[in-house]
Amino acid sequence: MAEPYYITTAIHYPNGRPHIGHAYETIAADVIARFQRAQGREVRFQTGTDEHGLKMAQKARELGVSPRELADEMSGYFRELFDILNISYDRFIRTTEPCHHASVQELWRRMEANGDLYLDRYEGWYSIRDEAYYDESELIEGEGGEKLSPQGTPVEWTVEESWFFRLSKYQQPLLDLYNSNPGFIRPESRRNEIMRFVEGGLRDLSVSRTSFDWGIKVPGSEDHVMYVWVDALTNYITGLGFPEDTPEFRKFWPADLHLIGKDIVRFHTVYWPAFLLSAGVEPPKQVFGHGFLLNRGQKESKSLGNVTDPVELAERFGVDVLRYFLMREISFGQDGSYSVEAIVTRANAELANSFGNLAQRVLSMIFKNLEGQLRTDIAATAPDEHLEATIRTHIAAMQTSFEELAFSEGLESWMKAVFACNQYVDEQAPWELRKTDPERMAGVLLTLFRCVRDLAIAVRPVVPTSADRLLDQMGIAPEARDVAALEDGNWFPALVATGFRMDKPVGVFPRLEMPAEDAA
Ligand code: MF3
Repeated sequence: MAEPYYITTAIHYPNGRPHIGHAYETIAADVIARFQRAQGREVRFQTGTDEHGLKMAQKARELGVSPRELADEMSGYFRELFDILNISYDRFIRTTEPCHHASVQELWRRMEANGDLYLDRYEGWYSIRDEAYYDESELIEGEGGEKLSPQGTPVEWTVEESWFFRLSKYQQPLLDLYNSNPGFIRPESRRNEIMRFVEGGLRDLSVSRTSFDWGIKVPGSEDHVMYVWVDALTNYITGLGFPEDTPEFRKFWPADLHLIGKDIVRFHTVYWPAFLLSAGVEPPKQVFGHGFLLNRGQKESKSLGNVTDPVELAERFGVDVLRYFLMREISFGQDGSYSVEAIVTRANAELANSFGNLAQRVLSMIFKNLEGQLRTDIAATAPDEHLEATIRTHIAAMQTSFEELAFSEGLESWMKAVFACNQYVDEQAPWELRKTDPERMAGVLLTLFRCVRDLAIAVRPVVPTSADRLLDQMGIAPEARDVAALEDGNWFPALVATGFRMDKPVGVFPRLEMPAEDAA
């Protein structure tokens, strides 16, 4: 039976339209989901929008609409973006769904039943932008001497009656969790940060508010709404049917991976497992905090006028080019930078000139010189066997890297395989063999056909549409495009036996023009 795999992204505040950072995280999660499916696992992939809280309420007030109207409109743009980007999510969750209210309230009741909630008064700093409480000692000073959160966002002094969660009680259980599961927080640098933070001692956490009402009501204390992070984090189990004991919940919880930005690691690795431990629910297996995406080294902001619409980027360069670029250019976990030139350069060098050109040349020569006909009656020579073994080695390395979420390294291994093919083409010079030794030419072209097929299957999680367009032309059945197919030693004779014949091939990775106005 297929092993289950549950992956989630953060759910996003729909207080504006999605930006490139949302695209980045969701594309990475989609690559992982597709990669795991190709490994034969039964994948569940969840994303969505985080619709309650002060930040949403405030934005709606500013725009003169209700928070619900704002959420409805903006959530739609997120979903639309993810559909454009070919994100293969199974569930798009919205925290305003009634089933989510029921789920969060049940989690609350269980934490309360465990003696972990008490009523008190909160007096301290709050950042609406981060939806986070900060300790005085964490604050930094702004240019005008004003107090700012460690993230540089404004904070306000807040005094109100509030429910508290006994986070302090979970210091040791959390440290035990980190120690017994060293892969719980990744990358390693974030693990160290969090360990230090928890070792420093934990204060109880304010988990409800009374000064506004855009949120989920606290059971039995209806003038309180829950702190938006208690609400938001619970989405990961709501989506599986919690609190019902559903087949999905049993199959997919605990989650294999929460993929999130590095700025919200604390919520996911301290608060979330503590809530779950309190409620008697198993914590997730792993949280990975990826880096930020910078526009030519700078954070995008309205005031800098450098905000890029990810939909425009996808329309301009193509969804697969954007996906490939983001996974290839940035070392996953670290911050990375993008620019129009970098996208065009990378796409042309690797997708168009290296892989696309290889595939197009090989398929064209098979079409022209072999009348599109595949054959099994030619014995492989030593260079052919050597090439096929080299390709297999590089693809295996690629898969190991992808398993570790080292996408850029993995694609580098894939490129090495592409280069090995191109070198073989140059050495074997099939265009010369056409006159001197047509049988050998056929052997060379069919070796390359097999390699191109393997390369297309291997890179398919990253560039699904293009890889499929290529594999369609090669007669590879849609259900034979996964790792099991890569390992099937009989696929080629089986394909030949079907009598499949190639049509005139169409290139799938066009060369992109370097836009003059953006050229460096
Ligand atoms: N909406 C939050 C943010 O964008 C993320 C919530 S993730 C969840 O920072 F885990 F809480 F769901």
